[in-house]
Amino acid sequence: MDLGTGTVAVVTGGGSGIGLAMANAFAAQGCSIVIADVQDDALDAASRSIADAHGVDVLAVRTDVSKVEQVDALAAATIERFGTVNLVCNNAGVAGGGDPWFGGIESWQWVMNVNFWGVVHGVRSFLPHLAAAGQGHIVNTASMAGLIPGFSPAYDASKHAVVAITEGLYGTLRTAGLPIGVSCLCPGWIRTSILDAERNWPDELGERPAVDPAGEVARKYVGRAIDEGMQPAAVADHVIDAVRAGRYWVFPNPEFVEIAMDRFHTIGDRVDPQPVEQMPGMPPRSQIVAEVMEALFGGTA
Ligand SMILES: NC(=O)c1ccc[n+]([C@@H]2O[C@H](COP(=O)([O-])OP(=O)(O)OC[C@H]3O[C@@H](n4cnc5c(N)ncnc54)[C@H](O)[C@@H]3O)[C@@H](O)[C@H]2O)c1
Repeated sequence: MDLGTGTVAVVTGGGSGIGLAMANAFAAQGCSIVIADVQDDALDAASRSIADAHGVDVLAVRTDVSKVEQVDALAAATIERFGTVNLVCNNAGVAGGGDPWFGGIESWQWVMNVNFWGVVHGVRSFLPHLAAAGQGHIVNTASMAGLIPGFSPAYDASKHAVVAITEGLYGTLRTAGLPIGVSCLCPGWIRTSILDAERNWPDELGERPAVDPAGEVARKYVGRAIDEGMQPAAVADHVIDAVRAGRYWVFPNPEFVEIAMDRFHTIGDRVDPQPVEQMPGMPPRSQIVAEVMEALFGGTA
């Protein structure tokens, strides 16, 4: 699909990180921009900075993507302002803390509400408008965690779901012959504020999950990998290429793809799951496990 003046692009989670970078990149092509985010200050700052930098029309809509009525309202506001929509990036996402098995269930609920339901809502609310526009494209932000489990169970589950939803959507649209492209974005480590996602923990879920010692060890190394990760603007360049070319898979960090392929080979060979010893950007898994044991049992295990 062409990107330029007259193209209307919607980005959820557009107040920060990858979403903000995509919104800027589309604006640099001349697109009109709709940014949606649950964090008011980030949304305001992003809409002003995009309009100032690129001189395009920007509509900012406070939206919690986990709420179907708010995503429907986002679609309605987009059509009311611009009369059409061409590109929708379901990108808002969170990484939750807390012990997945012995901690509260709320962390699972939050991660699934935003990462899973947010994408379902985004596709369902915008699809009729994209079909009416006569051409369009949907980009769903999954993760390499959608192809390689082992980061955190709730996050992995939500991102595996995004990969599955996106592939199902792609197949349906091709079968129906609708001129709507689909891309599945699977980043590795990207330099964003994702590890501070709990800044948007919803009051309705009560107390934030307690910090667990094992999670703290992993968080230290994930934080370092993210700090040393790819710039979000480089991810946005990959997305623009994929939208223009109508390409499905978007892998900004190809070093993770081999690991996903190894996993599928072990599945084909009926071999029990093999934890990855050397994940890009991380210390060896055996070192992390030793530190987790030390944190849990003071080295006595
Ligand atoms: N940073 C990485 O290393 C990485 C890797 C793989 C995938 N991702 C995915 O990229 C996407 C963007 O994350 P990011 O890394 O840019 O993080 P980020 O925290 O910088 O940006 C996420 C944005 O989503 C918004 N958001 C959170 N909850 C929301 C909700 N309920 N409704 C609407 N907006 C909400 C936040 O306010 C924030 O502006 C996420 O889906 C994330 O899972 C990130």
